[in-house]
Amino acid sequence: MASPPLSVALLSAILVAAVIYLIAIPDGFKLTELLGSSSSCAKKNQQLQAATDEPVDLSVFLGIMTVPSAYERRTILRLAYSLQPRPARAAVDVRFVLCTIDKEEDRILVSLEIIAHGDVLVVNCTENMNDGKTYAYFSAVPRLFAAAPYDYVGKTDDDNYYRVAALVESLRGKARRDMYHGFLLPCHWPHNQYMSGMGYIVSWDVVEWVAATPELRDDHHVWEDEDFGGWLRKGGKNKNVYNEEPRMYNYWDRDMGYEKIDCFWHAHRADAVAVHQLKDRLKWARTLYYFNATQGLRPSKLYHVDLENNIYKVY
Ligand SMILES: *[C@@H]1O[C@H](CO)[C@@H](O)[C@H](O)[C@H]1NC(C)=O
Ligand SMILES: *[C@@H]1O[C@H](CO)[C@@H](O)[C@H](O)[C@H]1NC(C)=O
Repeated sequence: MASPPLSVALLSAILVAAVIYLIAIPDGFKLTELLGSSSSCAKKNQQLQAATDEPVDLSVFLGIMTVPSAYERRTILRLAYSLQPRPARAAVDVRFVLCTIDKEEDRILVSLEIIAHGDVLVVNCTENMNDGKTYAYFSAVPRLFAAAPYDYVGKTDDDNYYRVAALVESLRGKARRDMYHGFLLPCHWPHNQYMSGMGYIVSWDVVEWVAATPELRDDHHVWEDEDFGGWLRKGGKNKNVYNEEPRMYNYWDRDMGYEKIDCFWHAHRADAVAVHQLKDRLKWARTLYYFNATQGLRPSKLYHVDLENNIYKVY
């Protein structure tokens, strides 16, 4: 169906993308904004254009905790984050966070990813759930970026999908000190609360305090995200708590059965800030489809992909 000019336009866009990419990458990992570097070229999203010229008044460093071997997941995450509409007046730097890489194949292959994408941060820890990665990450960030602090620092899982524009809209106007934002657990039970490990955001003073308080590293009782809530409570750093339920939730669709719906699990909503438990390709695919990521697909004689036959069209 595509007319030749469209294909030419697409090819030119790809060429421009390649050139910008080659120019952008030598800056090194720190300033290569994951969202900026690929989305401005890969997809002509009208919202992206408007967003770029305005002055930035909110910055977030978002670390996605993952392991070296999760090559496919990182591929999906790069698509998920780079094809999102850019947030207005905000800079959100998304990076993959790994502990010290110990296997030969991973040292080499992850190095290649760093060369190609510049979106990896390696912190000093061993890759072992609940063995100090949370402390290692939050204490590394304020040291690495002391010269150019962010307003907020977030930590998220590799099975979580933050919708960055919705996140920024939710953070705008919130406190910038002693701030703790996420999905509060246990649901509706106001004691010993902490933010679910799906993802949480704290203000820069909180990460500086974590880095300056090394005894927290050994203040370890339950799982790390629950410990983190305990640290803030003990340190008086949780004065401004923002619970994002129900805009943060676990992925649910009809195939999973209605009995599963509760405070965590429910159907997608258009104002979602984050969707968690995206444990397989199908859940990622349905989620990205629901949030209109596929709308950037241009008609072309080179392919025909039937996007009509899927669960969110059947609903
Ligand atoms: C990493 O952490 C370990 C244990 O805390 C420490 O002994 C080591 O010196 C650190 N390595 C680097 C490169 O900072
Ligand atoms: C996706 O796009 C459709 C059509 O433009 C719109 O009606 C819908 O609200 C969008 N969905 C979300 C989640 O933004």
